[in-house]
Amino acid sequence: MRKKMSDNQEISQKLLAWYQEYGRDLPWRVKGRAHPNPYVILVSEFMLQQTTVKTVIPYFKRFMERFPTIESLAKATQEEVYTMWQGLGYYTRARSLHKTAQIVVNEYGGKFPQRKAEVLKLKGIGEYTVASFLALAYNQPETVIDGNVMRIISRLYHLTQPLDEIKETIREKAIKLTDRENAADYASAIMDLGAMICTPKNPQCLLCPLKDVCQSKDKADLEQIPIRRKLGKKEKHGSVYLIQNSEGEYLLRKRTEPGLLTGLYEFPWKDEGKIWENAEDSGKTVTHIFTHIKLTLCIYKIKSDKPLWPDSFFVPKDRLSDYPLSTLMKKVMSKESNE
Ligand code: ADE
Repeated sequence: MRKKMSDNQEISQKLLAWYQEYGRDLPWRVKGRAHPNPYVILVSEFMLQQTTVKTVIPYFKRFMERFPTIESLAKATQEEVYTMWQGLGYYTRARSLHKTAQIVVNEYGGKFPQRKAEVLKLKGIGEYTVASFLALAYNQPETVIDGNVMRIISRLYHLTQPLDEIKETIREKAIKLTDRENAADYASAIMDLGAMICTPKNPQCLLCPLKDVCQSKDKADLEQIPIRRKLGKKEKHGSVYLIQNSEGEYLLRKRTEPGLLTGLYEFPWKDEGKIWENAEDSGKTVTHIFTHIKLTLCIYKIKSDKPLWPDSFFVPKDRLSDYPLSTLMKKVMSKESNE
């Protein structure tokens, strides 16, 4: 006699069947099994940590052309890696990915570790990435839990308490739902359901493979779930200096201070303090949202023929894009180009 499927199995089977038919074809994905090349999964998961699929696709393709193997990435310079990452932002990820490639090549002979505790010891890999990496690259029965998954689970079970109070409940339910035989497909399927159907706004319930079992379907509060307490971002104000010499070239400096932007090039800037003398207010500002901070910089202009720092130099306007600039500095540059 066939064993009756549990409710959880029934849900995961519906999700998997939907994925086979409607799941996205993505350049880092194969359907029906784990990806044969774990390096592909590593690069894509790092890129997808804070960036949308649509933005990542062209960067991923260029990156894989430039660094097709983990060895080629391991032996690249930080500058070369940054150049390929330029525009994706959150450069700590690029540094960590580079370092992870070097550890895997130098300490594991180019073969990835597959035990969770060892993968977690690589650089830049937390609970989410270890689960997605092991599921997608090795079909290990790990459960991915991100914002999409939390939304799906809290809607599926109509969990209406604030999210920070129910994370553990969500985690338990998400683990129970995970298909242990098809963990790679299951991880991709739940990501796609969150991106394509169970979206934050205007979820496509009529097309949802889980519509018959979802406890929030047709409920008025569906779109509000999960309930998030609002945390305001801290606002900071500062200034950025476009220093031009008599040839009209711009002063760039390489950032050496430890932190998120280390190693990138920038126009000199300060996040607070007195404005430099002789600086002329351009009347323009740029705003950039970091994880916890909203930073607004006023753009000032200065004329000077002296590089004002030991690690700074003048660059013609049409060569600025040869240097890895942070997203913040690209915004400054584009304000300048729109003169
Ligand atoms: N978000 C994080 N990892 C992803 C993946 N592999 N596919 C689609 N979206 C993702």
